[in-house]
Amino acid sequence: MNTRVFVVACLAVFCILEVCQGGDLRKKFYRKSCPDAEEIVRTKIQTHVSARPDLPAKLIRMHFHDCFVRLFMINIYTLCLSFPCNVFWSYVHKSGCDGSVLLDSTATNTAEKDAIPNLSLSGFDVIDDIKDALETKCPGIVSCADTLALAARDAVSVKFNQPTWEVLTGRRDGTVSLSSEALANLPAPFFNFTQLKQSFANKKLTVHDLVVLSGAHTIGIGHCNLFSNRLFNFTGKGDQDPSLDPTYANFLKTKCQGLSDTTTTVEMDPNSSNTFDSDYYSILLQNKGLFQSDAALLTTKISRNIVNELVKQNKFFTEFGQSMKRMGAIEVLTGSAGEIRKKCSVVNS
Ligand code: HEM
Ligand SMILES: *[C@@H]1O[C@H](CO)[C@@H](O)[C@H](O)[C@H]1NC(C)=O
Ligand SMILES: *[C@@H]1O[C@H](CO)[C@@H](O)[C@H](O)[C@H]1NC(C)=O
Ligand SMILES: *[C@@H]1O[C@H](CO)[C@@H](O)[C@H](O)[C@H]1NC(C)=O
Ligand SMILES: *[C@@H]1O[C@H](CO)[C@@H](O)[C@H](O)[C@H]1NC(C)=O
Repeated sequence: MNTRVFVVACLAVFCILEVCQGGDLRKKFYRKSCPDAEEIVRTKIQTHVSARPDLPAKLIRMHFHDCFVRLFMINIYTLCLSFPCNVFWSYVHKSGCDGSVLLDSTATNTAEKDAIPNLSLSGFDVIDDIKDALETKCPGIVSCADTLALAARDAVSVKFNQPTWEVLTGRRDGTVSLSSEALANLPAPFFNFTQLKQSFANKKLTVHDLVVLSGAHTIGIGHCNLFSNRLFNFTGKGDQDPSLDPTYANFLKTKCQGLSDTTTTVEMDPNSSNTFDSDYYSILLQNKGLFQSDAALLTTKISRNIVNELVKQNKFFTEFGQSMKRMGAIEVLTGSAGEIRKKCSVVNS
């Protein structure tokens, strides 16, 4: 078979398996098929957030992880072992916001949520609860990926009494969840600027998106072991990270027991960790970013300039909404690709 025929054959397989894009995300995708969908998510979230003020952080981070983890479609890989398909395979095995982060492990498959070592995702029960309500009202219509995207937005929005950014809908759910991929794709808190930039570029996100989306660290907590090298042994000489404010480092040392303290958590934005605002950037500029990946945003002129811009709250909100829209569209499944899961924790049988 010559190369061109092979490529065409592969494209056909690609589309038959319906991994190819069948359409775009749009505003109010469920307006006709399930008119109450967005309202159901909103009211459910309101109840949950009033009982759990840390929920916005959990859900927005879960959505981020969902979008950044790519999936590995083995059936395609085994169908296309020679050169043109390799190219194509590398395309196929990237899949983004498809609800796969919500899947439970099965006997043969370790799911993302069990693989990510103690990255402490939580809030799965809340998504399951919302999904149950959606299934009762409109069975088989609203995807888990959309449910998560809407829930994350609505959780952050509760305090503002209005949606803080627009969420386009029409995502469909993936059917495979593999662990090794999860680890390979998430940026680590130890990443330097170059690595962060690359990690975002892999998802077609820019340095601007990187700086803007890092602002989500205005809410939530971090575990000591993910930054305590900065406090106790930065270069292997029992030293501190010189780019971390020494007073803040001392404060953190009063909280964290040592390098291997995996249980203590601290607020990322001290005293304001449930308030979604532009504080992250003012704190960062005082050299009080918690992770090396936060501090890294000050290490290039271009990213530092963006940080300086985003200190302005209005600017941050506007930009955050736009970057979330781009993040929420990473490699989505649309049209007739994937499925609409009945339960977010298991693929349909
Ligand atoms: C730029 C690369 C990023 C890195 C390296 C990173 C890393 C981390 C780490 C290590 C934690 C602490 C987890 C724990 O100790 O339990 C964390 C928490 C968090 N991240 Fe990120 N993150 C990044 C980007 C993002 C983005 C894009 C978002 C959302 C748009 C986000 C939202 C959050 C939130 C809300 C929390 C707090 C979670 C909680 O309170 O449980 N992060 N991140
Ligand atoms: C992860 O957390 C579990 C308990 O939640 C703990 O037993 C385990 O030691 C932790 N592992 C690491 C690598 O921190
Ligand atoms: C960032 O980290 C990578 C991997 O450790 C390293 O190769 C690179 O030199 C680092 N870049 C900078 C600018 O420090
Ligand atoms: C600090 O790092 C060095 C080099 O990696 C290591 O030999 C030393 O044991 C570490 N110190 C502690 C307290 O873990
Ligand atoms: C947080 O609030 C406590 C009590 O009001 C105060 O002692 C502490 O200095 C504050 N921390 C920061 C980092 O602002």
